[in-house]
Amino acid sequence: MMSDDVTGKMKSNKITVYIDDVPYLVSPENNLLAGVLSNKLKLPYFCWHPSMGSVGACRQCAVTQYMDENDTRGRLVMSCMTPVVDGMRIGLIDKASAKFRQQVIAAMMTNHPHDCPVCAEGGECHLQDMTVMTGHSARQYRGGKRTFTNQYLGELVGHEMNRCITCYRCVRFYKDYAGGKDFDVFGSRNQVYFGRQKDGVLESAFSGNLVEVCPTGVFTNKLFSAHYTRKWDLQSAPSVCAHCSIGCNTSIGERYGSVRRVMNRYNHELNGYFLCDRGRFGIGFVNSMARISTIKGVNNKVGEPSLGTFNEKSFAKAMSEHSGESFIGIGSARASFEANRLMKHLVGKENFSLGYTNQEMQLALRHKQLLAQYPQQSLSGMEHRVHQGSEAKEHDLVVLIGENIAQTAPRLALTIKQLLRNAARDKADSIGVKHWQDSAVRTYAGNTTTPMFSIQAQQSEFDQQANGALILSVQKIITCVEHLTQMLHAEFISHIVVPLKAQQGNTVESANQKCSSQESVSKELSDQESKFLLLLANALSQAKMPLIVTGLSLKSPLLLNAIDNLMACLSQKSHCYSPELTVVAPECNSVGNLHFFNEHSLSIEQVINRCSTRHSENKVPSTSLLILEHDLAQLSHQQLQQLRQHCKTMIVLDHTDNQLTKMADIVLPVSAVSESNGHFVNYQGRLQRFSSAHIAVKPIMENWYWLGLLAKHLLTHPEVSFASLTQLQSFFAKHGEPWALQVMTCQQQNSNVARETHRASGRTAMTANQSVHESKTFLENSNNPEGLRFSMEGDDANSSHNMPYAWAPAWNSNQSIFQHQQEINGELHHKGNENLLNLSLSVFFDDTAEENIEEKLDKLWPCEVLKRDGDLTLIQNIPWFLADQQTHNLPEFILMFTGNTIELSTEFARLNHYSTDDVLKLTIDEQQLFGRVKINSNQSQSVVLVSLFELPMSINNLIITAKNINIATTEEVTDFHQVESNRKQIAQQEKADILIRLKKQDQTVPISFITNESKAEGNSNA
Ligand code: SF4
Ligand code: SF4
Ligand code: FES
Repeated sequence: MMSDDVTGKMKSNKITVYIDDVPYLVSPENNLLAGVLSNKLKLPYFCWHPSMGSVGACRQCAVTQYMDENDTRGRLVMSCMTPVVDGMRIGLIDKASAKFRQQVIAAMMTNHPHDCPVCAEGGECHLQDMTVMTGHSARQYRGGKRTFTNQYLGELVGHEMNRCITCYRCVRFYKDYAGGKDFDVFGSRNQVYFGRQKDGVLESAFSGNLVEVCPTGVFTNKLFSAHYTRKWDLQSAPSVCAHCSIGCNTSIGERYGSVRRVMNRYNHELNGYFLCDRGRFGIGFVNSMARISTIKGVNNKVGEPSLGTFNEKSFAKAMSEHSGESFIGIGSARASFEANRLMKHLVGKENFSLGYTNQEMQLALRHKQLLAQYPQQSLSGMEHRVHQGSEAKEHDLVVLIGENIAQTAPRLALTIKQLLRNAARDKADSIGVKHWQDSAVRTYAGNTTTPMFSIQAQQSEFDQQANGALILSVQKIITCVEHLTQMLHAEFISHIVVPLKAQQGNTVESANQKCSSQESVSKELSDQESKFLLLLANALSQAKMPLIVTGLSLKSPLLLNAIDNLMACLSQKSHCYSPELTVVAPECNSVGNLHFFNEHSLSIEQVINRCSTRHSENKVPSTSLLILEHDLAQLSHQQLQQLRQHCKTMIVLDHTDNQLTKMADIVLPVSAVSESNGHFVNYQGRLQRFSSAHIAVKPIMENWYWLGLLAKHLLTHPEVSFASLTQLQSFFAKHGEPWALQVMTCQQQNSNVARETHRASGRTAMTANQSVHESKTFLENSNNPEGLRFSMEGDDANSSHNMPYAWAPAWNSNQSIFQHQQEINGELHHKGNENLLNLSLSVFFDDTAEENIEEKLDKLWPCEVLKRDGDLTLIQNIPWFLADQQTHNLPEFILMFTGNTIELSTEFARLNHYSTDDVLKLTIDEQQLFGRVKINSNQSQSVVLVSLFELPMSINNLIITAKNINIATTEEVTDFHQVESNRKQIAQQEKADILIRLKKQDQTVPISFITNESKAEGNSNA
């Protein structure tokens, strides 16, 4: 795949530019600055960003352009605003441009406070680097400095406006790129202010990127600042975000046994330069008070000692009491690929479950079938122009169906926002304005956007931009998709005369006007729906490369069926028509688990049945459960009680307390993503490695290691004896499993890479508060398949194909990534996860016994609810930062939550006499949940949107009736307000407590940690 967009990979036909009389090859598709930086030359800049293009605001990137080789004077040009032409000659080191650049930065620095020693950006600051690069080493300005009042921007991002150098990057990112509405630039001349109109929480799900986008320390990561360390004293690891199925690449920084921050790790196919805030800040859950740090249930028997130790003999003795029990294993979509594979191997395919309900099993099967048929594009593939042979293609239509991507896959939403600018770029292109001329493109093309349609169960931020947007019940969404398919089949659309041009802000009302002469498509549909479908069918018939985006969050296999039929219909259209489908999966390893899914897999209902049948046959519970990182939150209270009652021994492996750990007999504490090694498989089927940033304190150990111990002492699997993850992978490689073979091949290319920068303060200095004796670092052991060393010793991190952090000589900030790209926005020199990508899903699935599964489906996993169309559908509308259950333990996110709400259509509220801010009681199963009423005139009458903290995302598309909703009594209202305020208070207290605990740990952990580890007897999971 090749693309020529400003943010894409460049075409290979390079041209020659003479820089200081030396010829260099540069891409004609990007600007001169990008060409210079692609050749690893040093040229300072501020306002240009490789993803956002050029605006020419800072004047820092000046170079001298010469007419020809005889021109000795030349003229100053801004390289970021200058297109390249073959044979052009420029100077970087000539006196004029060098002096100009030095003067520009001197002017900028007149107001900068020079507070590097107390600035969180210090040591990784682009402004510092550029100041050094221009040679502005002495401060001459002696006047007073301009000062600003900082704003409170919420729990996540700090603000220190005095450091601003007015480069405009922040507002361009927040407003123009990410579509935020609550951040802007104010003032004029020397008093330009970047922030909100007044103090308040930044609303965008991408606000954390300001920390990386701002070249100075104006925007800071508040969580990192609260427990701060310099970049050079962080121990970093390449990791993968565990908070949704996109699988953005991250770099986790750790010091003294606690995670400090997550930074973006460039992957040109996926996240590029940006993460969402759930991924950036959500990692805080690993430090939460809810983490499990001791073994529960066997402690007393084995006399398990305190934190920091683990005695295998005692554990074996305790486990021997359960050996001989018959176990069912339940894996999970948030546990690593390896751990799930091992679990299945240990219990056998007849006793393996993914913890899915019958409905989710049917959903998973449909998902698997869709992925096998329709290859999933990377984010970059969706966003950029793709070259297929001589043809260049880009998505010219987006249809969002039944998935609120802003909630379930925020980074994908950011990609779609960029994709929608394709039409504007093309329009500008038609008059010769290049893609990278950001300001010119926006000026000329205005708000022109690529056409988009949306059919959802809830409102989304895309609705306003859409050419048409419908909000319907799930059943109605399915009906609409079916009708759309029929319309396309019948070539009904060939008679439609409405011209579809790229247009901005067309709501469904304006779409209706255009189609007002058309007849209603079907009696099942309202006029509004019929007209919408006519317009959409028209758009689909005219597009060349439409993108359909859907997902599993509405939990409807029937919806996936309907999408499958739609795609089949579109795919038949013609050879020059390339419809693409993107399916958002529920969790970080949901697609990985499809590998283990077949007709033998047990649904959770089957697990309950088996436990209860054996219970009644044997008169005592005789089936035991081994549950891997699953809280079974989607089960009803009754189902959970049944499971507990009929199961003999419940052993749960998890890192955070939940409803199952509370009811389990034995809980084994497993390490969280920051302390673990393994792979997740993202929505595309891309197998991506994550590495531990640090080693957890025993008895917290990696999930696969616990499973190995259980194999040895409980499940009698003598062949399973893994001292390391590498051994586990090679075990499966020997059995011919393709994923393991690829993983092994990739790992052989590694060397010993340092996790700390070569500027680290050194162990003596870092632990001097306790001892000046140099302590041993963790031994590199076989549990460390990437060869990442827990120290500053080792090979250059940047030569690794999995860079723990980004750095290059003279480039200390994250902008150093350009020094590692083959060219700006291109692949890294040392490709990382890409080596392992896109294992074909047909290879991925380990069973072929799925023939005729369609017929067996309802017998295998019967699901009555799918056929029921109740009068109300419950849809989870929780904010994006709480849409992943793991982030419910992060105090900062809890503090951002504005409270439980139950959102009703105007009609439903009127019929039931509910008013805004009434408190309602929702009864689900035996659980009573309370929320304030919100009334939404756009909402479907048969949908109830709930944003209830206590309700997990996995409960969605639940059929209820109006009887489930009642007005709360006066006492209940008082309790509700109390609970709401308590939640905040507890979160506030927890936030303070966590900080105190971590700071205390800083003073005590390192030495004891290291001492214990150096005594460890070759325990790979030390
Ligand atoms: S706040 Fe940062 S990103 Fe924004 S204009 Fe100032 S220096 Fe640039
Ligand atoms: S989009 Fe998903 S994977 Fe990417 S950073 Fe956000 S939560 Fe993580
Ligand atoms: S980077 Fe060129 S003007 Fe700012």
